[in-house]
Amino acid sequence: MRVLLCGGAGFIGSHSAVEFLKAGYDVTVLDNFVNSSPEAIRRVEKITGRPVTMVEGDAADREAVAKVFADEDIFCVVHYAGLKAVGESVEQPVRYYRNNLDTTLTILECMQNAGVKNIVFSSSATVYGEANEPPYSETMPRGACTNPYGWTKSMIEQILEDAAKADPELSVILLRYFNPVGAHESGLIGEDPKGRPNNLMPLLAQTAVGLREKLTVYGGDWDTPDGTCRRDYIHVTDLAEGHVAAVNYLKDHRGTEIFNIGTGTPYSVLEMIRAYSEASGVDVPYEIGDRRAGDLQDVWSDATKAKELLGWEAKLGLAEMCRDSWNWQSHNPRGYEG
Ligand code: WQD
Repeated sequence: MRVLLCGGAGFIGSHSAVEFLKAGYDVTVLDNFVNSSPEAIRRVEKITGRPVTMVEGDAADREAVAKVFADEDIFCVVHYAGLKAVGESVEQPVRYYRNNLDTTLTILECMQNAGVKNIVFSSSATVYGEANEPPYSETMPRGACTNPYGWTKSMIEQILEDAAKADPELSVILLRYFNPVGAHESGLIGEDPKGRPNNLMPLLAQTAVGLREKLTVYGGDWDTPDGTCRRDYIHVTDLAEGHVAAVNYLKDHRGTEIFNIGTGTPYSVLEMIRAYSEASGVDVPYEIGDRRAGDLQDVWSDATKAKELLGWEAKLGLAEMCRDSWNWQSHNPRGYEG
C-alpha cells in the first residue's frame, strides 16, 4: 500500500516517512521545499534502505497533485503541507490562509477525482483555543484561536469534517499534535527551520551549539510552580508512529475521527532548559524576559483516546527528546545545508 505525504520532506513528514517505510508502506513525497530540503528524503532512504518516490511540487498546484494520483496508486494521503510559524502568520495572514487552505482544497478535489478515500491531517492542539482547560480532550469544542496559523488548522478541520459528511466513503483522521520535538535516533534527520526558529526546542538546540548567545524565557511570572509556561512535548518519532497507527486504523473506518497526539505529561520551560543542559553537557545560557503575546500558560493532552482506539501511546521521555535533538543539532549545526 502506498501513502502520499504532502509536505513530506518537512520535520514531521520526513520522520513519518521513516516509520511508514519501516511498517512496510510504500511512500511518495510531494514537497515544494519552501521549509524543507530534498536532502532529508535522501537521508530517509539511507536510514531505511528503502526508496522514496520524491516529487517536487506544490500541493496547491492542481496539475501537479493530479499527476501524482495518475502516476501512483495512492491508498491514503497524509497532509502536512502548510505554513506553520505562529508569529509569521500574524505578520502575513493572507499568505497563510491562501497557502494552507489552497493546499487542502486542491488535495481534496484531486482525491475526489481519483477516487482516493483516505486522508490523515496534520492538525494542532492550537485548535482548542483559549476557552478550554487542559488536559485537552477530543470531545471539547474547537475554541477561538489566537493567530491565523491556528485558525487555518481549525478551518481545515471543519472542511475535512464537512467533506466526510458529504461522502460516506471518505475516511478522515485529524491528528492534533501537541509540541513535536527531538529527532530520529540516527541524528541523520531532524528539525531544520529556515530562518529564526519560533519554537523552544530548536532555539534551545541552537543556543546549546553556540549559534545563539542565550535563550529568552518568555515570562517567569506565570501561575505555575516555577513561574514558566507548561507544554506537552512529544518526541517526533512517537508522533511519526502515531501516523502509521492512524493509517492502519482508517482501513476499517469511515467518517471523521479526532486524536490528540501528545504524552499527557507537561513540562515547564525551565524544566526543558535543565533537561537540555543535562543532555548536551552545555549549561544553556538564558534570561527571563517578557511574556510572548498570544502564549497560553498551560497546554497538554488527554491522550487516552489514541491509546484506546489506535493502540498508540508515546514511549519516549524528556531525556530521549533532548538527547536526540542534541545529537541531530551537534552533528548538523547548520541543518541539511551542512
Ligand atoms: C513553547 C514554550 C513559550 C521560545 C506552537 C504552536 C503549535 C505548534 C508548536 C507548530 C512556550 C516558550 C519559546 C523561546 C520561550 N506549531 N518559549 N522562549 O507556542 O507551545 O506552540 O508551536 O508545530 O501549534 O502554537 O510552542 O515552542 O513556540 O513555545 O520561553 O525562545 O516555550 O513561551 O511556553 P507553542 P513554542
